Amino acid sequence: MYLCQTMKKEDLFKRLVSHCKEYGYIFQSSEIYDGLSAVYDYGPYGVELKNNIKQYWWKAMVQMHENIVGLDAAIFMHPTVWKASGHVDAFSDPLIDNKDSKKRYRADVLVEDYLAKIEKKIDKEVEKARKRFDDFDEEMFKKTNGRVLQNQEKYDTINKRLVEVMTNEDMEGFKTLIEDLKIACPESGSRNWTDVRQFNLMFSTQFGALATGENTVYLRPETAQGIFVNFLNVQKSTRQKLPFGIAQIGKAFRNEIVARQFIFRMREFEQMEMQFFVSPGEEMKWYHYWKEFRLKWHKTLFPATKLRFHDHEKLAHYANAAADVEFQFPFGFKELEGIHSRTDFDLKSHQEHSGRKLQYFDSEKKEHYVPYVVETSIGVDRMFLAILSHALQEEEVPDAKGGTATRVVMKIPAVLAPIKVAILPLVGKSGLPEKAREIFADLKWICECQYDEKDSIGRRYRRQDAIGTPFCVTVDFETLEDNAVTLRDRDTLEQVRLPISELAGKISEKLNFSNLWKEEAAVEA
Ligand code: GAP
Repeated sequence: MYLCQTMKKEDLFKRLVSHCKEYGYIFQSSEIYDGLSAVYDYGPYGVELKNNIKQYWWKAMVQMHENIVGLDAAIFMHPTVWKASGHVDAFSDPLIDNKDSKKRYRADVLVEDYLAKIEKKIDKEVEKARKRFDDFDEEMFKKTNGRVLQNQEKYDTINKRLVEVMTNEDMEGFKTLIEDLKIACPESGSRNWTDVRQFNLMFSTQFGALATGENTVYLRPETAQGIFVNFLNVQKSTRQKLPFGIAQIGKAFRNEIVARQFIFRMREFEQMEMQFFVSPGEEMKWYHYWKEFRLKWHKTLFPATKLRFHDHEKLAHYANAAADVEFQFPFGFKELEGIHSRTDFDLKSHQEHSGRKLQYFDSEKKEHYVPYVVETSIGVDRMFLAILSHALQEEEVPDAKGGTATRVVMKIPAVLAPIKVAILPLVGKSGLPEKAREIFADLKWICECQYDEKDSIGRRYRRQDAIGTPFCVTVDFETLEDNAVTLRDRDTLEQVRLPISELAGKISEKLNFSNLWKEEAAVEA
């Protein structure tokens, strides 16, 4: 049973945050100094899961595509990079302050929250009707129900105004929209707002000893630009032909105005980005390819019902098409990944600002041109949150006395789990620890293992369930006689007896990354 089915969504989220701390996944940065807002540290299990997510992405993007190669560019870049990319002039969010609470908000988020409430009303009507009718036709109901239609119209009108003020950067219009909707400050409840103004999200610092304006450098707000400025270096050194891609994983920094919802929106975070360079005119074909490929990747980890596309109406300054893969977080469907058709904007702009040619020679067409780019961009931390919020579950399981007990379990896909195998001697004496340590010494070459002999076996199983360990190997007195152990499966609770000699093979088979793709393919078939 998923936690979200048994408890309110807000409670699930609170539970997740405290679970992450209690079990060594995530800690608030500088906690002993009361923390630093929207900055987090990953604990012993967190860092393992994060590394596994990155590895899974890298395998799917680089290892599985012969025409995609990797890169690790520096965080610091020449300041003109950010002028050329448009970030100095246009990477800002509209902010507004409430004069009574002195709280600062993103104006677009205030309106989006308002829209989410309307969406919730529509969902409620649908759910009510679903319970009433046996063969319920959701699409028909939405097209014909008066209350739904009224709310949908209200939603569309407000959304259109939001897109307009955002596209036209109409800060006055933004304030009027907030006033017209009578949006109050969630903290003070008042509607005493300042004007809306733009706020640049880049962090800057000084390079070298002199603190003059000329020495200002930025902490990169996206990893993509490191790929663009290296486009020709990579193409020439690896003799790539279009279409080809460059993938990179690395830190990015944004001075977010509203940094909230735990690791969903952070000021320091990590991105996994891939820029796919194509011939002009081919970008839409590849845009659709990457949308579908990325959705398939997510479907290897989540049920399809928790995923959806959101096609953008308001496009960023560099894009001619864009979509988000949204995931159903405990606080609703939100962006998990962006897929953007970035045209030739970035390469052309770097060409102009640097005075260097960033062109590809097409040997078939016998011409030079600036390629177009399709980008896939996902936050590691956001993916981490998606995985944990789907994995954390509470369920009834049989207890030792024939009754039932409640267990908290993290059903993280086995290949991503921080610890893959716990090796547990039934008791901490009589030769069992020695035998268990022998097994540990063998299995540690294959995957991340943990040895534990403290507490009763039941408590140790519960602890491994809470960490998300998919397999427990129990060494008991019979093991000393027959060289066999019990292998316990976290999800099914099934326990099988098998010879120690078969353990490594069995576990390796279960931890093969390709299983995820095969399972997804089976669901589709
Ligand atoms: N290069 C394109 C780009 O950066 P974006 O939509 O601004 O596009 C891409 O960001 C992804 O990075 C998002 O879908 C999200 O997963 C992640 N991301 C963006 N801002 C973030 C933040 N403040 N905290 C955590 N993740 C963030």
